[in-house]
Amino acid sequence: MKKKSTEIICFTNNKGGSGKSTVCANLGYELSLLGKKVLLIDGDMQMNLTLSYFNEDDVLKMASGGKSLYEAVVGKRDLRDFAVPTPYENLYLVPSSSLLSQIEFQLFTMMQREFVLKKCLASLKESGEYDYILIDAPPTLGNWVINILCASDHVIMPVEASPWGLFGLANMFDFLESIKELNATELLGVLITKVDERKNYYRQTKEVLSEYEDIPVFETVIHVDSAVEWAEDNSVPVSVYKKSTRSAKEFKQLASEIV
Ligand SMILES: Nc1ncnc2c1ncn2[C@@H]1O[C@H](COP(=O)(O)OP(=O)(O)OP(=O)(O)O)[C@@H](O)[C@H]1O
Ligand SMILES: [Mg+2]
Repeated sequence: MKKKSTEIICFTNNKGGSGKSTVCANLGYELSLLGKKVLLIDGDMQMNLTLSYFNEDDVLKMASGGKSLYEAVVGKRDLRDFAVPTPYENLYLVPSSSLLSQIEFQLFTMMQREFVLKKCLASLKESGEYDYILIDAPPTLGNWVINILCASDHVIMPVEASPWGLFGLANMFDFLESIKELNATELLGVLITKVDERKNYYRQTKEVLSEYEDIPVFETVIHVDSAVEWAEDNSVPVSVYKKSTRSAKEFKQLASEIV
């Protein structure tokens, strides 16, 4: 029997607030509903992905328990031992902590410093235990984000449909291209987020993206939806908060597009 393979997908964009953590959290949940076993990895010291599934008290407890992503990476440990179950079937998470703010400094003196995270994931990837591993990245472009990219097979780049959402896009594409010298990480697609039909920025964003010949763009877009914030406030996925809301349907559609 052929062994199952694990797809590792990260969410990056240097631009803050473009929807990385929101998309990562909700796509993970929708993939789990499709019967896929999913591991979410919170690669950001802001802990937004962890907070998407656990309340603040639990997040702080986990962060102080010595079992967050930071300890795994600095100790070069197998990430399997750091995954905690979420309240949902098939969905697991490696929590973040504020210690991740020191990761750049720690990586600096490590051997093969671009591939530390990749090595922590090697045994999990080899085992095929998970169908998808989704990694949320911080809005930076340092060695840590290079680690996240080098550990991933694919990148999803959320871009906010706003005047500043497009700023620095070319730079970001160049950065992703330069990663290919280190690892065969492919851009799965740009995902347009926070679309507001009353404004012109969605059209403008699509136009600018269409000028890049080799950049794939997802058919699914995520509209601005107040349910996103309500759900985050309650540490639940949008479709648990309100199944019928627009963004919940869009996250579901994105999961189907990816599968
Ligand atoms: N579709 C949406 N509708 C309404 N609000 C949204 C939507 N997507 C994201 N948001 C809100 O926008 C803010 C930024 O989103 P998010 O944290 O996912 O972005 P990010 O790229 O992860 O940010 P950072 O770069 O800081 O990590 C959050 O407050 C979130 O609630
Ligand atoms: Mg984030």
